[in-house]
Amino acid sequence: MKPAPFALERYFARHEFSARYLLSPSDCESPTMHDLLALGDAETRGLWDRLTLGYTESPGHPLLRETAAAQYAGLGAQHILTAAPEEAIFIAMNVLLEPGDRVILLTPAYQSLGEVARALGCRVEAWSLRVENGAWALDLPRLRALLAEPARLVVVNFPNNPTGTLPTAQEWRELTALVERAGAWLFADEMYRMLELDPARRLEPACLMGERAVSLAGLSKAHGLPGLRTGWLACRDRKFLADCQAFKDYTTICAAAPAEILSIIALRAGDTLLERNRARVAENLAAARAFFQARPQRYAWLEPDGGSIAFPRRLAQPAGMAWADDLVQRLGVMVVPGSLFAYDDAHFRVGLGRANLPEILALLEDE
Ligand SMILES: Cc1ncc(COP(=O)(O)O)c(C=O)c1O
Repeated sequence: MKPAPFALERYFARHEFSARYLLSPSDCESPTMHDLLALGDAETRGLWDRLTLGYTESPGHPLLRETAAAQYAGLGAQHILTAAPEEAIFIAMNVLLEPGDRVILLTPAYQSLGEVARALGCRVEAWSLRVENGAWALDLPRLRALLAEPARLVVVNFPNNPTGTLPTAQEWRELTALVERAGAWLFADEMYRMLELDPARRLEPACLMGERAVSLAGLSKAHGLPGLRTGWLACRDRKFLADCQAFKDYTTICAAAPAEILSIIALRAGDTLLERNRARVAENLAAARAFFQARPQRYAWLEPDGGSIAFPRRLAQPAGMAWADDLVQRLGVMVVPGSLFAYDDAHFRVGLGRANLPEILALLEDE
């Protein structure tokens, strides 16, 4: 199997470490290792100090799995398999899908959520978010119509990257029920969970909504720790997880030992890390909303419901990749245009999780 180049990741590879400013990162500000270790308790500091750098347990450190499982009522360590988030997508798609399978993908989407399936020979059909009255909206009747024909898998991502949209609890119940009734699997990328702007809108994880439902979560976004490369699949179906573990023998076999201990520290100190990041996202959201709404000739603001991202639309010219090329060359500001999500190029992603967003907005004053 040969997946097509990952447009967004190739673009980041080009600019992430050379552009002076990033308007469009998706993660939150990362703590230093020193700060993270300082959040450890006696047990985790002991684990860190005595750590040997051998291979680790393939399904993930038992304490890491147990700590991750604590957020899924009724599930335990046996329902968790750790893997880097991107790796977890790759593994889950390989395990769930066969050539010719029909896959329904909520779009716009993080490319690998559809591309791995496509490269496996599946028929991937888009289920698009709509813009309704200046806001992102879910089209459940369209999903119902798409599910009238047999499908193997429905792939969603909430809060959605790049739009930040979230269904209501009622829509989420309807969506999961539709998928279950159709006899399809549900893969829910929940990488931006815990960053809901209104915590009351946090969705029940998909893995608790059905037997054939998989949740993907990890520490890259809300915790601001993508450098740990820690994520996990949560699912009630232990056969699915066992198959994923067997597939992982061909990807990484097991996680990096230091990352596992640091991840346990991060999960145990979750409240501290998340509070910090939620506060920054809320402040940055207010700044970004004010900035773009004050320039209605040039931008149409679209409010996110969660995540550390927004996906407004540029109305002025240049827009899209031409604007992105110009900004990075002239101002050293990297912006991700919509075409990197196979979407209308006039949209662009705004990252709300980093400390220097106000400084970047000031640079865009005259754009
Ligand atoms: C929706 C979504 N899923 C998965 C990932 C992959 O996470 P990671 O880069 O930590 O592997 C990302 C990263 O941007 C993402 O936005």
